[in-house]
Amino acid sequence: MKFISIEQAIKKGKGKVAVRGWIYRERGSNKFKFIILRDSTNIIQCVLPRKKFEDKWEKIDKLQIEASLEIEGVIKKDKRAFNGYEIDASKVNIVGLSNEFPIQKDLNEELLGDRRHLWLRSQKMTAIMKIRSTVTGALHEYFRSKGFYEFQSPIIIPGGAEEGPTMFELNYFGKKLYLTQTWQLYAEAAMYALEKIYCIAPSFRAEKSKTSRHLTEYWHTEMEVAWANLNDIMKYAEEMIKHVIKRVLEKNQNELKYLKRDVKKLQPSLKKRFPRITYDKAVKILKEKKKMKVSWGKDLRTIEEEKLMELYDTPVFVTNYPKEVVAFYKPRDSKNPKTARCFDLLAPEANGELVGGSERDTNLKELKQALEKKGEKLEDYSYYFDIHRYGAVPHGGYGLGTERLIKWICGLDTIKDAIAFPRTMTRYNP
Ligand code: 4AD
Ligand code: MG
Repeated sequence: MKFISIEQAIKKGKGKVAVRGWIYRERGSNKFKFIILRDSTNIIQCVLPRKKFEDKWEKIDKLQIEASLEIEGVIKKDKRAFNGYEIDASKVNIVGLSNEFPIQKDLNEELLGDRRHLWLRSQKMTAIMKIRSTVTGALHEYFRSKGFYEFQSPIIIPGGAEEGPTMFELNYFGKKLYLTQTWQLYAEAAMYALEKIYCIAPSFRAEKSKTSRHLTEYWHTEMEVAWANLNDIMKYAEEMIKHVIKRVLEKNQNELKYLKRDVKKLQPSLKKRFPRITYDKAVKILKEKKKMKVSWGKDLRTIEEEKLMELYDTPVFVTNYPKEVVAFYKPRDSKNPKTARCFDLLAPEANGELVGGSERDTNLKELKQALEKKGEKLEDYSYYFDIHRYGAVPHGGYGLGTERLIKWICGLDTIKDAIAFPRTMTRYNP
């Protein structure tokens, strides 16, 4: 018989079926073995009566969690079964045995982290990984539908990026090189050829942050567009997020339900325009509505971002941060010269900064000054200056923390669960 998925078998709902998968739960008596079988699509209860399998009974009776099986039988409605269907087995083929699967009962986060390679099989991780696949698929789909080319940049770089001290060093045949924090500086070179480009690739941050939203290796969704200003860039960011949420709501209702995500909390972000406020306004709101002491001129701290976002049910663009605190390539705003033409998109429900973006400075003098102020070596950036020497045009782009978006959409407690094998300061195994 041809194997079908458990989901297809349930859809069929009657007659003979053949399915295969792994034992999710099992219990037995001396007359029956009850096996809940899982595959990537669903789970289903299978009943194996001893009198049908007398010759194999000893082996069947000993089957444990995560053993792999092929089962043929008749599927039928059964009110007592947890998802309404049951397979009355007539043939069983034991494919791979499993002995004392190391995750039997609830374990703490550390132990589940150590056994991550096995924990991925859980219903929870399976649900998240499915949503993650929808998210990255929707990101590609969004950019391609808007005429973007996919462009890749090197991961190993000679230096230069967001913040020098937070780069991982690499011993490169005796030379000190770094793992990239962003695709951007190379993307700006390619932008002069392709105009609209994007990429989803790993970025690395050696930040000593042990928070629920920091990874040392994360998947960075970045884009760069020629001739674009700040408003254009924000529009792309908003459309992109809306598109991703829409796709997840279309494709992953079962997974969201499993994760007990209150999807009503995502609805406003689909329907409403994301507010745009300046940093000045954000500081004012924090002082007036949240009675916080905030001094103008510093980056917003996590607690400030969270307090601000208590007032909103969609992501919010905060624009025009103080020029002094932003990355060197974010240009001064001529209308408000103490600030830069940049934005952070903050997520609701205490999920922090989702996206960071800006117009790009093509004024070599300003660029060099900003770099020198940050104590950077100008020679590390010589190729970057060269890019804008020939036919510079206004342009801009942004970077999205893909796991932060997944964390928010799934309603996860920690960003570590938004990626299969997380890397943090203290977690790098398996
Ligand atoms: O704000 P960031 O540092 O911006 C850049 O790297 C720009 N060069 C992007 C660009 O314009 N092309 O990082 C962008 C986003 C942040 O908003 C955040 O969502 C995510 O990357 N991010 C992290 N995600 C997980 N773990 C970390 N340690 C992260 N650091 C940044
Ligand atoms: Mg940022």
